[in-house]
Amino acid sequence: MAFTPENRARADEIVARYPVAKSATLPLLHLAQDQDGWVSRVCSFYTMFKREPVGQLVVSVCTNVSCLVNGGPELLRALEDRHLDDDDVSVEEVECIAACDLAPVMQVNYDYHGPVDVEAAATIIDEYKSRVRTPRTISGTRVDAGVAR
Ligand code: FES
Repeated sequence: MAFTPENRARADEIVARYPVAKSATLPLLHLAQDQDGWVSRVCSFYTMFKREPVGQLVVSVCTNVSCLVNGGPELLRALEDRHLDDDDVSVEEVECIAACDLAPVMQVNYDYHGPVDVEAAATIIDEYKSRVRTPRTISGTRVDAGVAR
């Protein structure tokens, strides 16, 4: 993996923030993930790093208790089916994401949406795909923060 020239400059800015370069490991991994869609090896302990390539939109659907009783599993299955062959969208199941009052809730690149039914969720995802909504990066960084894939 090699950074693009733009991301190399961004990496240098990140490293310069820390008194010891290795302290920049996590933000550099996020930068690498936002560029290439995933990272490998050093990240198995941290669920926000994807160990296999993902689409530019990561849809995280909660199926924990509040979402479970409000249709979270059905929402997950419907979105998994809808995006089965969609390279741009990766659907994943997540544990409680601390938005139980929005159940059933999903995140798209770490932005919360809820409560949503299948139709509302599909509309939201399509709005991100068509850039009616501006998605964060797959690491949750706002694009206007200067890091984009
Ligand atoms: S149970 Fe789904 S956000 Fe808490």
